[in-house]
Amino acid sequence: MSNQVKTLVIMAHPELNQSRINKRLAAEAEERANVTVHHLYTAYPDENIDVVHEQQLLEAHDRIVLQFPFYWYSSPSLLKKWQDTVLQYGWAYGTGGYKLHGKELIIAISSGGPQEAYQAGGPNHYTYSELLRPFQATANLLGMTFRRPFIVSGIRGISDEQLEEYASQYGNYIQGPPLD
Ligand SMILES: Cc1cc2nc3c(=O)[nH]c(=O)nc-3n(C[C@H](O)[C@H](O)[C@H](O)COP(=O)(O)O)c2cc1C
Repeated sequence: MSNQVKTLVIMAHPELNQSRINKRLAAEAEERANVTVHHLYTAYPDENIDVVHEQQLLEAHDRIVLQFPFYWYSSPSLLKKWQDTVLQYGWAYGTGGYKLHGKELIIAISSGGPQEAYQAGGPNHYTYSELLRPFQATANLLGMTFRRPFIVSGIRGISDEQLEEYASQYGNYIQGPPLD
C-alpha cells in the first residue's frame, strides 16, 4: 500500500487539440505516479455529467487539481456546470455533506495576459488571487485546504524551454507532499 498523496486533475479545456500550454501540463501530469488526469470535455462531449462517477473519483483522491485556461477571468463553462452539479448538498456541504473535508484544492490556470497585467493599475486591475476568490470560497465551504494556485501567464511569450520548465514544476507541485 502506498502512503503517497493521490492526486486527481480535473482538466477542462474545450479545444484541447488547439492547446499548447494545458496539453503539455496535462501530459506531464499523466506521466506522474499517483496522478489521475480526467478530461471533462472528452468524457462529456454532450456536457451530460455523470455525477455519481465524478463523486466517486473525488472520494478516491486526496488532492484535487482544477486545471483550465483562464476564460473571462474564470473557468470554461463545463467546469462551472461540474461544480453546480457534482458539489451537492448533503454530499459536499450541508447536513451530512463532508466528503471533501480535509482534501486539498489546487487551481492550475494558463492565462493569455501576463503577470504584470494582473495588478492594481494594470490593464486587468485585479490580481489572480482576487479573481480566483470564488474557488477559494468554495474550498472553504467544503472544508478543503486551498493551496497556492499554479499559474502560467503571458502564454504568448513562453518559449518551448520555459514550457518544459513549467511542466516539470507543475508535475512536482501536484505530486508533492501534503501541507502540514
Ligand atoms: C473565450 C476565451 C476567453 C479568454 N479569457 C481570458 C481572460 O479572461 N484572461 C486571460 O488572461 N486570458 C484569456 N484568454 C486566453 C486564454 O487563457 C489562453 O488562450 C489559454 O490560457 C491558452 O492555453 P492553451 O494553450 O492550453 O489553450 C481567453 C481565451 C478564450 C478563447
